[in-house]
Amino acid sequence: MSLTSNGLSTTTWPAFARLVEKHNGIFGGCWCISFHLEPGENKQMAGRYRELKETRVREGRAHAALVFDGPEAVGWCQFGPTAELPNIRSKKEYEQGLGAVPDWRITCFFIDRERRGEGIASLALREALRLIAQAGGGTVEAYPEDYTGERTSNSFLCSGTLGMFEKTGFKKTRKIAMRRWVVVRKVSPTRVTRPRRLTGARSS
Ligand SMILES: CC(C)(COP(=O)(O)OP(=O)(O)OC[C@H]1O[C@@H](n2cnc3c(N)ncnc32)[C@H](O)[C@@H]1OP(=O)(O)O)[C@@H](O)C(=O)NCCC(=O)NCCS
Repeated sequence: MSLTSNGLSTTTWPAFARLVEKHNGIFGGCWCISFHLEPGENKQMAGRYRELKETRVREGRAHAALVFDGPEAVGWCQFGPTAELPNIRSKKEYEQGLGAVPDWRITCFFIDRERRGEGIASLALREALRLIAQAGGGTVEAYPEDYTGERTSNSFLCSGTLGMFEKTGFKKTRKIAMRRWVVVRKVSPTRVTRPRRLTGARSS
C-alpha cells in the first residue's frame, strides 16, 4: 500500500466528493458540514450540505487532511481554526470549564468503510498536525472518546479515540461527557514541503 496525503481544496474536492458519495453522503447526507455550523443552524440548512461544503472549500473555510491511495481518497481528518468549527459536541459542558480558546480544532474523522483498521485515521491525524504546522501552528484541541481496551461502534468514534491523540502528543485536560475528553497540544510552525509519501499504515 502506497498512501499519500493532501489538504482539502478545490483540486482535491472531486476525490473528497467521491468518497462521501460512496457512503451516501455520510450519516444520511452530513457531507462533513455539521461542525462548521452554529448549534441550531443544521436544520435550517438541511438538504444543502454538499453545496455548503463545496462553497466553504472554494472560499478556504473548510480544512481537512485527506489520505489517498492512488487517485482515490480513503479517509480524512477534519481540522480548522476554532471559528471555522464552532459546533463541537458537548458544547454546553465544554463552555462551562473553558479557559483559553484554542487556535485550532480537530473535530472529525472519516475512513472508507473498506479500509478501516489499517491505521489510516492515525495517519490522517498526523497529516492534519503537519498542515497545521505549515499554516503557522498554535494550540490545537480535540474531543476524542475514551474506549481504551474496548471495541465500540465505528460511528461513535467520529472524533477519534483518546489513544490516537495521546500517541501524537496530546494531553487530557478535562472530561466533557461520559467518555469524551478535551485534549490539547501545541504545534510549532514549519515550512511547506509537498507532496510526500506516507509511511506507518498497517498493510491491508
Ligand atoms: C473511527 C474511525 C475513524 C477509525 O479509523 P481507522 O482508520 O480504522 O483507525 P486506525 O486504524 O487509525 O485506529 C486508530 C485507533 O482507534 C482504535 N479503533 C478503531 N476503531 C475502533 C473501534 N470501533 N472501537 C474501539 N477502538 C477503535 C484502534 O484500535 C486504534 O487504536 P490504537 O491507536 O490504540 O491502536 C473509522 O472507523 C471511521 O471512519 N468511523 C466512522 C466515523 C464517522 O462516522 N465519521 C463521520 C463523522 S461526521
